[in-house]
Amino acid sequence: MSSLHMLFSFLLAFSLGCTVSANVSCDPSTLNTTSGVYYAQENQTLFDIADVVSRGVCDIARYNRMADAIIPLTTDEEILIPPQVCKPDNSTCLIVSEPNATYANCVVGGPHTYLTLKGDTMAYIALKLNLTIDALMSTAWVPNMGSVNDTVEVGQTIKIPQCSPSQCIIRPGEFIYGTFKDLAAKLGSTPGQLMALNPTYNHTVAPQGEGPILTMIRDCTNLSKNITIIS
Ligand SMILES: *[C@@H]1O[C@H](CO)[C@@H](O)[C@H](O)[C@H]1NC(C)=O
Ligand SMILES: *[C@@H]1O[C@H](CO)[C@@H](O)[C@H](O)[C@H]1NC(C)=O
Ligand SMILES: *[C@@H]1O[C@H](CO)[C@@H](O)[C@H](O)[C@H]1NC(C)=O
Ligand SMILES: *[C@@H]1O[C@H](CO)[C@@H](O)[C@H](O)[C@H]1NC(C)=O
Ligand SMILES: *[C@@H]1O[C@H](CO)[C@@H](O)[C@H](O)[C@H]1NC(C)=O
Ligand SMILES: *[C@@H]1O[C@H](CO)[C@@H](O)[C@H](O)[C@H]1NC(C)=O
Ligand SMILES: *[C@@H]1O[C@H](CO)[C@@H](O)[C@H](O)[C@H]1NC(C)=O
Ligand SMILES: *[C@@H]1O[C@H](CO)[C@@H](O)[C@H](O)[C@H]1NC(C)=O
Ligand SMILES: *[C@@H]1O[C@H](CO)[C@@H](O)[C@H](O)[C@H]1NC(C)=O
Ligand SMILES: *[C@@H]1O[C@H](CO)[C@@H](O)[C@H](O)[C@H]1NC(C)=O
Repeated sequence: MSSLHMLFSFLLAFSLGCTVSANVSCDPSTLNTTSGVYYAQENQTLFDIADVVSRGVCDIARYNRMADAIIPLTTDEEILIPPQVCKPDNSTCLIVSEPNATYANCVVGGPHTYLTLKGDTMAYIALKLNLTIDALMSTAWVPNMGSVNDTVEVGQTIKIPQCSPSQCIIRPGEFIYGTFKDLAAKLGSTPGQLMALNPTYNHTVAPQGEGPILTMIRDCTNLSKNITIIS
C-alpha cells in the first residue's frame, strides 16, 4: 500500500512538473488545489459541473472512478471534485471513434449479453464493445428501437455476437484509478465488456487509492484464425 502510494505521489509530482514546464503561462500557485464534493443538481451533466467548478471533465471522471463520463447523473448525486491542474483534461476519457479505427464483427471472449445503461444508443454500445454497428444490430434488439443514434430504454438485456473460439480471463479486482476506458486499455478488453459485467456500477466516492471490487475482464484473445460468429 505505501509503495503504491509513493508511486502515485511520484507520478503526480512528475505529471505536475511536466505540465508546468509545458505551459509557462500556468502559475500553479493560482490553482485551487483543494478537493471537494459537489451534489449534482437536477438535469446537470458532468460537463455542466466541470464548467461550474472549473475542472476538466476527465479529471473529475477519473477522480470518481466513473464507468463513463457521459452517463447521466441523478439529482443530488455526490461527485468528488479533484484539485485543479494546469492542463484540464476534457477529452481523453471520452469514448469516441478514432480516425481510421476498425471494428470487429464479434466480441472477443464474451459476455453474450449487455444490459442497456442510461444514455445508451445502439451506435454507442457498438463503439464501447469495439463492434461494427451492423454486427451489433444483427443480434441486438430493444422495444421501440428507432435509429442507431436514438437513446434506448434503460435496463434492456440485449444479445451481442461472440467470437468463437475466443477467451478472456475474468476475475474480481479493485478499481482504483481512471474510467472504464482507461481500465479496458490496461486489461486488454473493452469498456463495453466491463459495463456488461458490472451493469450497476457508475462511480465511487471511496478515497483515492482505494476503490470497489469489480468483475475485471482481461487478456481477451481469439483462439484461432478461423473465427465463427456466435449469435
Ligand atoms: C497554457 O494554459 C493557458 C490557460 O490555462 C491556455 O490558455 C493556453 O492555451 C496554454 N498554452 C499551451 C501552449 O498549452
Ligand atoms: C476550491 O475547490 C473546492 C472544490 O470544488 C471548493 O469547494 C472551494 O470553494 C474552492 N475554493 C476557492 C477559493 O475557489
Ligand atoms: C429536467 O428535465 C426534465 C425532462 O426533460 C424537465 O421536465 C424538467 O423541467 C427539467 N428540470 C430542470 C430544473 O431543468
Ligand atoms: C472543459 O469543459 C468545460 C465544460 O464544458 C469548459 O468550461 C472548459 O473551458 C473546458 N476546458 C478546456 C481546457 O477545454
Ligand atoms: C450511481 O450510483 C449511486 C450509488 O449507488 C446512486 O445513488 C445513483 O443514483 C447512481 N446514478 C445513476 C445515474 O444510476
Ligand atoms: C487515416 O488514413 C488516411 C488514408 O489512408 C491517412 O492519410 C491518414 O494519415 C490516417 N490517419 C491516421 C490518424 O492514422
Ligand atoms: C477492435 O477491433 C479491431 C478490428 O477487429 C482490432 O484490430 C482492434 O484490436 C480491436 N480493438 C480492441 C481494443 O479490442
Ligand atoms: C477476432 O476475430 C473477429 C472475427 O474474425 C475479428 O473481427 C476480430 O478483429 C478479431 N479480434 C482480434 C483482437 O483479433
Ligand atoms: C448517427 O450519428 C453519426 C454521427 O453523428 C452519423 O454519422 C450517422 O449518419 C448517424 N446515423 C443515423 C442512422 O442517423
Ligand atoms: C472454420 O470453422 C468452422 C466452424 O468450426 C468450420 O465449419 C470451417 O470448415 C472452418 N473453416 C476453415 C477454413 O478451416
